[in-house]
Amino acid sequence: MPLPVLTTISDVKSCVLDAKAAGKTIAFVPTMGALHPGHISLIEAAKGENRFVVASIFVNPTQFNNAGDLKNYPRTLDHDIQMLEATGCNMLFAPSVEEIYPSPDKGHWDYGILSSSLEGKFRPGHFDGVLTVVKRLFEIVTPHISYFGEKDFQQLAHIRRFAKEEMPQIEIVGCPTLRESDGLAMSSRNMRLNEKERGIALHISRVLYDMCEKKNDFSPSELEVYGRTQLELVAGLELEYLEIVDESTFAPVPEWGEPFQPIILAAAYVGEVRLIDNMRV
Ligand code: PAF
Repeated sequence: MPLPVLTTISDVKSCVLDAKAAGKTIAFVPTMGALHPGHISLIEAAKGENRFVVASIFVNPTQFNNAGDLKNYPRTLDHDIQMLEATGCNMLFAPSVEEIYPSPDKGHWDYGILSSSLEGKFRPGHFDGVLTVVKRLFEIVTPHISYFGEKDFQQLAHIRRFAKEEMPQIEIVGCPTLRESDGLAMSSRNMRLNEKERGIALHISRVLYDMCEKKNDFSPSELEVYGRTQLELVAGLELEYLEIVDESTFAPVPEWGEPFQPIILAAAYVGEVRLIDNMRV
């Protein structure tokens, strides 16, 4: 069956009402398009008996703090629709900017160190933009459950916190990062890498794997320095940050073992393309 592609809020609301009246659970996968197997794994996770799976594709301008990044973000709607159709998604919401933001709109959320560190430090206002659009999409789609990738680990932590405090009726599910066979984390931004840049980008996941293997040789802060040094040595790669934090508090990890749940988070530019990755250690 062809995938219904809706562009207006009123059409989405009436379609969701019909599905709810038929006793369906609304499972929602918000995306910015340029879909890859990582997104499709979210749709697969969302599917299930008596489920109505809604995906959205909206390149959200309020979460970009760089006009060039917004302009160059890959847009592949026709191909995305084919992929969603093949996965058995039930409806796609693909609104215009005017539909989502009839007037300028950007909220503000401050979750302490979670908001001020890492992505929060290097992309000021980014999480405000993410939560503004996620809140708006949740109000429109009114899902019972919603799925997000762990690749955007700090984003997922923001969305969990937001939903817990402001929309506790929605269950948030995090899904594991999918990787290419050589380890590169799947990302829509990978489409913008040329062959040479892709080879350079591969060092990010290689160093994270290497750090996991060397965990017992170093303290957390020593391991951080080791990882940073490895990535700083890579020609053509510009490291923004590499930190080991506790995955629930985002505070630095003073030592290995209980009660800490350490995760390495890293961001780097390869050419014009900004890539992020993470790995539990
Ligand atoms: O992860 C993304 O694709 C986006 O940040 C999201 C959650 C769809 C909000 O625009």
